[in-house]
Amino acid sequence: MKRQKILDVLTNAPIGEEVLICGWVRTFRNNQFAAVTDGSTIKTLQLVVDRENTDDGLLKRITTGSAIRATGIITESQGKGQKVEMHVSEIKVVGDSDPEKYPLQPKRHSLEFLRDIAHLRFRTNTFGAIFRIRHACAFAIHEFFNNRGFVYIHSPIITGSDAEGAGEMFQVTTLDLADPAKTENGDVNFKEDFFGKATNLTVSGQLEAELGALALSDVYTFGPTFRAENSNTSRHLAEFWMIEPEIAFADIHDDMDLAEDMLKYIIKYVMDNCQDDLEFLEQRLINEEKNKPQNERSPMALREKLQFCLDESYERLTYTEAIDILMRSKPNKKKKFQFVIEEWGADLQSEHERYLVEKHFKKPVILTGYPKDIKAFYMRMNDDNKTVAAMDILFPGIGEIVGGSQREERLDVLLSRMKDFDIPEHEMEWFLDTRRFGTCPHAGFGLGFERMIMFVTGMTNIRDVIPFPRFPGSAEF
Ligand code: 4AD
Ligand code: MG
Repeated sequence: MKRQKILDVLTNAPIGEEVLICGWVRTFRNNQFAAVTDGSTIKTLQLVVDRENTDDGLLKRITTGSAIRATGIITESQGKGQKVEMHVSEIKVVGDSDPEKYPLQPKRHSLEFLRDIAHLRFRTNTFGAIFRIRHACAFAIHEFFNNRGFVYIHSPIITGSDAEGAGEMFQVTTLDLADPAKTENGDVNFKEDFFGKATNLTVSGQLEAELGALALSDVYTFGPTFRAENSNTSRHLAEFWMIEPEIAFADIHDDMDLAEDMLKYIIKYVMDNCQDDLEFLEQRLINEEKNKPQNERSPMALREKLQFCLDESYERLTYTEAIDILMRSKPNKKKKFQFVIEEWGADLQSEHERYLVEKHFKKPVILTGYPKDIKAFYMRMNDDNKTVAAMDILFPGIGEIVGGSQREERLDVLLSRMKDFDIPEHEMEWFLDTRRFGTCPHAGFGLGFERMIMFVTGMTNIRDVIPFPRFPGSAEF
């Protein structure tokens, strides 16, 4: 007999039919009722075991955490909480689990505790839901771009360019760290290294995506990126996934439209396809917030918030307008912000971004026209010579979720910007060639995948939305 997934058994409810299922036992009550999960859905299938005719030794081995394989007839359930159940005719324990030592008990565990046993947290309801939703988001993103004729580019993970990195990169080397090859003047001789030069893990696939876009028109990358910044926050990882579309013959407005459409597509996809998981996470949040004072609770339930971000059009304004609003804001005047904004040109911190989104506009915000000095060299210079065509999308509870820009396609302007940033021209010839041979206006952005998952799951720590988080001091498993 072919194994069926529990999701299919529960959805199709093949009453009267015999089916084979495999999974892990959550609980086993009265030597009779086993709740079994196989990860295909947050719901468990109830197995009714014939305890009179089942060997005692076998019954003892059906414990929380054990892996089983069972055949039986599907019937309508008498119990509450499920429509169907399975009357077991044969059950085998495939993998035993010592119930005394199994770290996961049928009770609530703290997220911190589960982070330490990341190899087992997949088995919990919360993380099962999160990782099914994470999958759905990845699928939705590929579907969105595929529908629009984008080409998926696999940008390299090891890179020889560090133009974007400036000090935040992880080095990749096979040199003997205790005794590396040296040049005559005593520096490490990277000519002797694996690639014949110094290399790093990439911080972004953008520059490579630009080469793709200037030939294939519309491309995107979706891969891991690495940043060695020492930010121990709930919004930063040292290894995170980024989606970076790049579009040719397009300006900053096309870029914003694309990003807003993409974000809404992902949200809608999750709402349409992950109802059970969303419902569970929503309830989880409600329970969690019961312990918080009224004014710290979120004003909307999870699905209400998602629907809201689907229905609203995102507020678009310039950095200059935002600075005005912030300087006139109460928390700035009363010095409630940790970083009080004194003047135009200040970099926005997450507290400012969240003020704009959560307090002032009460909806997602797209900021454009940032001062050139606080943004990257490749962003297109505006006519005022002070600001660049950057755009950041700010989301409630998250802050910056997308960062992007129209790119500087004019060779002379780009070269002078590179001088300002001390980026050596000879290292960037490959990139500059796009501006020499058929350059065109183009734009793109980066979506932080984990920040997106935080938003749709309502999780408040980024370490809880990636299977194996990497952050300063931690690279377990
Ligand atoms: O704003 P960032 O640094 O933009 C870029 O890397 C551009 N090359 C993107 C582009 O135009 N193609 O990063 C983009 C997004 C941020 O908005 C944020 O959501 C996420 O990546 N991000 C991080 N997510 C988790 N941990 C970190 N350390 C992150 N740093 C950035
Ligand atoms: Mg950014």
